[in-house]
Amino acid sequence: MLRPFLYLCAISALSGVYGNCDGSGSCLCTVTGPTVIDFKRQMNSVSDRCEYSLLHDQSTGFSLKANFLERRRRDVSFVDSLTLDFSDSEDIQLLQGHRVTVAGSPVTVNSSVQTFSGVDLSKDQTGVTASFSVNGSSVSVFFDGTTAQIYMADPVNFTYDGLCVDSNNVSSLRLSSDTSCQFKYPDPADNTINCSAVAQQCDVLKSAPFSSCNSKVDPQPYINACNETLCKYPDVDGLRCQFIQAYAKACEKSQVNLQSWMTEAQCLQPKPVCGDRICNSHEFCGEINYNGGCRCREIFAFVYRQSNLLGGPTVCKDNNASLSLVGCLLNEKSIDYTLLHLNDKNCTGVMDPDSHMVTFGFNGDSCGTKVTETSNQIIYKNGIMTSNGSSEVITRQDEIYIEFSCINKKPEMQTVVFRIQGSTVVQYIKSEVWNYSVTMKAFTDGSRTQVLTPDSEVKLNQRIWVELETDGLNGDLVSVVTDSCWATDNQMSNSTPKYDLIMDGCANPDDQTVYVGGNGEGTSNYFSFNMFRFSRSTGEVYLHCKLQLCAKKNNCVPACSRGVRRRRSAKYRDEAPAFLSMGWSH
Ligand SMILES: *[C@@H]1O[C@H](CO)[C@@H](O)[C@H](O)[C@H]1NC(C)=O
Ligand SMILES: *[C@@H]1O[C@H](CO)[C@@H](O)[C@H](O)[C@H]1NC(C)=O
Ligand SMILES: *[C@@H]1O[C@H](CO)[C@@H](O)[C@H](O)[C@H]1NC(C)=O
Ligand SMILES: *[C@@H]1O[C@H](CO)[C@@H](O)[C@H](O)[C@H]1NC(C)=O
Ligand SMILES: *[C@@H]1O[C@H](CO)[C@@H](O)[C@H](O)[C@H]1NC(C)=O
Ligand SMILES: *[C@@H]1O[C@H](CO)[C@@H](O)[C@H](O)[C@H]1NC(C)=O
Ligand SMILES: *[C@@H]1O[C@H](CO)[C@@H](O)[C@H](O)[C@H]1NC(C)=O
Ligand SMILES: *[C@@H]1O[C@H](CO)[C@@H](O)[C@H](O)[C@H]1NC(C)=O
Ligand SMILES: *[C@@H]1O[C@H](CO)[C@@H](O)[C@H](O)[C@H]1NC(C)=O
Repeated sequence: MLRPFLYLCAISALSGVYGNCDGSGSCLCTVTGPTVIDFKRQMNSVSDRCEYSLLHDQSTGFSLKANFLERRRRDVSFVDSLTLDFSDSEDIQLLQGHRVTVAGSPVTVNSSVQTFSGVDLSKDQTGVTASFSVNGSSVSVFFDGTTAQIYMADPVNFTYDGLCVDSNNVSSLRLSSDTSCQFKYPDPADNTINCSAVAQQCDVLKSAPFSSCNSKVDPQPYINACNETLCKYPDVDGLRCQFIQAYAKACEKSQVNLQSWMTEAQCLQPKPVCGDRICNSHEFCGEINYNGGCRCREIFAFVYRQSNLLGGPTVCKDNNASLSLVGCLLNEKSIDYTLLHLNDKNCTGVMDPDSHMVTFGFNGDSCGTKVTETSNQIIYKNGIMTSNGSSEVITRQDEIYIEFSCINKKPEMQTVVFRIQGSTVVQYIKSEVWNYSVTMKAFTDGSRTQVLTPDSEVKLNQRIWVELETDGLNGDLVSVVTDSCWATDNQMSNSTPKYDLIMDGCANPDDQTVYVGGNGEGTSNYFSFNMFRFSRSTGEVYLHCKLQLCAKKNNCVPACSRGVRRRRSAKYRDEAPAFLSMGWSH
């Protein structure tokens, strides 16, 4: 009989002395979802995605910080990770997936207590607990990925501040210096939520079996936290039960054991089995088909969802085409990426272990790519699709077909006039497609090594070689055809007098000095001629060329024969040739 008496006596004595928390002699702070229930049982909520001080000891500099992040809606944040910041030793972080880092490095924690930098860490199925002491007061921090609960004995000399001490002025305890985490996203209200029904559901904390705890732990802040959150965020991922569980744990801490509360509150499947599941920073663990899986955080996913896309955009680079699908978007639609492939079944996707992006790609015409040609572009098209030759009787996969393509835009008509002796013209054909450049250079030797520079002297009847070179095209698939080249005595390509060197892809039959080499055979070609000047003119010569791209499956080599001008074979011709000019003055 003596013991209980002494115990009660001790409690009342403590509550007389220690008035910093709720008067019970111990301090409890609960952070669940966006809400904070502080030591004085005040409930407030965080509405942005910043880091906040939960508990800070002015005497030692110790600080417990919480970072908040959005989940399915951009305008509601959830406590996402905790940082224990000891001014004199390494930081410890409690993260999603029951993970722990010490000084940034992951450590494995299990049910037996291990001590890191004076902090006792342990883990059970429900979450991770860190226990330590701050200037003589013992503090215990529990975190399960959705709820953080902080307990400490009410200290004699109370030197603390933070949201757990007083949550009334939330913004004053924001730590993030970068204001981008405060940006407010205007997500429309969820009109499927019935707030009065939510209020009724949250009120369950006032009835049995919870009522047996009501005198020890005031249910009202928990009810308010539940009601306020679920009135704007859907009851998914076990959210309602999360608030009820937070209350049950607080009761447990006050020695009230709530029998069968899960059954009573219909929380038998309290939340998706997330446990140790590791999602990356743009994902969180949530419910997918009654199980736990990595879902996309909404700020990351928003741009995809707006356009109803699973990934992208197509990346066309170095003649490779690739499309990346977002792992968490596939998860949400229960699409197994290993069952997806390109036209050629052997071309499957590769998942990056960190970003969870699943990348499909082809190079040129590989992987069953279909190559088609229009008047101004050559298109390389493939698609990501589900296996259809499946031998299974049933399938739970949606049929998927995501077409993606890269194109070679045929160079556009452009006058690249460069004044005299420029010797090199580089024109980048910028398309949303494969990038390649077209260069025109003049040389004074047949091996095309002596570039004509602004200082070079060009004599009449001197032989000149002009190279039309492209860089970045896939020579297995396309070739470049010089359609025509002509000279004028000024910058205007359409001026007169005009002298033809190449016509319809062939040397001007009337000028025996013109030789055309490799036209239509590859991604570069050249021609040569003997220098001349315009008889009644200033002595300037400007050279202009029109180029074409041709898909190699066609015959791209112009049919020419000396002395006879044939009708154009015209396979390579189109309406949008590239146009390059260069000039000399004598
Ligand atoms: C502990 O707190 C007291 C004030 O309550 C302070 O005087 C003392 O320096 C603190 N101890 C440490 C180790 O910071
Ligand atoms: C916990 O981990 C420690 C160190 O890794 C190991 O020595 C111990 O056996 C583990 N305990 C259990 C119960 O797995
Ligand atoms: C509380 O503070 C007072 C005055 O600063 C000091 O004398 C006393 O030792 C402190 N008590 C504890 C437990 O730190
Ligand atoms: C909240 O804190 C900020 C910054 O510390 C302060 O400017 C503001 O007046 C405070 N608001 C209230 C209501 O105390
Ligand atoms: C909202 O819920 C309340 C209580 O469950 C119910 O009486 C009411 O009809 C519901 N309102 C709508 C629009 O469903
Ligand atoms: C529940 O929350 C909503 C939104 O914050 C509020 O309008 C309503 O009064 C609350 N109901 C109760 C019973 O607290
Ligand atoms: C393009 O594809 C080839 C062959 O598939 C590969 O070797 C190369 O690394 C790829 N380049 C890029 C930029 O992806
Ligand atoms: C796919 O790969 C298998 C095995 O490597 C090979 O036998 C088959 O010919 C390939 N199919 C195609 C369409 O390339
Ligand atoms: C095209 O390639 C050139 C050279 O590699 C580069 O300087 C240019 O920025 C590229 N353009 C685009 C649009 O990627």
